[in-house]
Amino acid sequence: MRVLVTGIAGFIGSHLAERLVARGDDVVGLDNFDLHYDPRFKDANLRCLRERAVIVTGDVLSQRTLERVFAHGPFDAVVHLAALPSVRASIHEPWRFERVNVEGTAQLAYAVARYGMPRLVFASSGAVYGDNPALPHRETDRVDAPASPFGASKRGAELLLRSMNRSFGLTCTILRYYTVYGPRQPPTQAVHAFCRAALRGRPLELFGEGSALRDLVHVDDVVDATLAAVERPPTARGVSVYNVSSGTGVRTSELAAAVGVALGKRVRLQRGLPHPGEVVSSVGANDAARRELGFVPRVALADGLADFARWARRADRGDWL
Ligand SMILES: NC(=O)c1ccc[n+]([C@@H]2O[C@H](COP(=O)([O-])OP(=O)(O)OC[C@H]3O[C@@H](n4cnc5c(N)ncnc54)[C@H](O)[C@@H]3O)[C@@H](O)[C@H]2O)c1
Repeated sequence: MRVLVTGIAGFIGSHLAERLVARGDDVVGLDNFDLHYDPRFKDANLRCLRERAVIVTGDVLSQRTLERVFAHGPFDAVVHLAALPSVRASIHEPWRFERVNVEGTAQLAYAVARYGMPRLVFASSGAVYGDNPALPHRETDRVDAPASPFGASKRGAELLLRSMNRSFGLTCTILRYYTVYGPRQPPTQAVHAFCRAALRGRPLELFGEGSALRDLVHVDDVVDATLAAVERPPTARGVSVYNVSSGTGVRTSELAAAVGVALGKRVRLQRGLPHPGEVVSSVGANDAARRELGFVPRVALADGLADFARWARRADRGDWL
């Protein structure tokens, strides 16, 4: 297959692209090395890919860049991961999240439709369910009250893709990822932040009292689900939506303690203030992905954290890969 991956220099994009090239697929990637976190990490993410994939540096918002990217087509599938990914940061710059996550998706989807590419896989988020207390969230639940501009931007992009299915016949698979963790997780995200604090002997700051539930899904499992979506022929529905989750919630206090166990370190937990925009609990049912994509999350949390801890120690010494 020939696959376009936007956001290729990011955490999930680089894992996905490595898996694609390892199995012999042709990969073209787009990334603008956004400054949301240190772009040197993104540069390092591409170390194993530079020789094996075509990397275009540019912005998904630029039509000229998209023309350059699609000149490397035709593609059998386009996976759109490029986005501003943070719930917390979105509170302070909602307009940037709207622009990159909604308008960027509109530009890309328009190009996919215009160049006649057969399928688009879009990385949405469990954040679209907002604070709906009925857990686990299901794809049929209401999604009209996201709690953050980030969640709203993902929901906005989903609606836009639906409208483009109607108007252009664009076929699309929407994957609502939950809390993805694994080697190369951005330093801004919880498991990485807990590990860094623990390695420096600092307290691990919880969200509130630590009773909030999060659904952690390992990046290898997320890549499995994404590849299944890439390979699956478009359904008659035109737009399919799947939660990509472990299906199980873990309290953030338990997660912080488990990080300590994985690192073999005694950790101090510190109560934190709830952040505006963060939902109280987020757990997704994954029955639809199991049934229709054959998705089976394989990495148990304890194993995933042990693997993460080994990587975090190396990353802490400067060995990012
Ligand atoms: N990591 C998670 O827990 C999680 C959960 C839910 C959804 N997602 C979604 O999955 C996708 C990938 O997330 P990630 O964790 O790998 O984040 P990431 O920040 O590591 O990767 C995103 C990449 O997109 C690039 N990018 C940003 N704006 C761009 C633009 N305008 N043009 C081109 N490239 C641009 C960034 O430079 C970055 O390399 C995102 O859409 C994110 O919202 C992630």
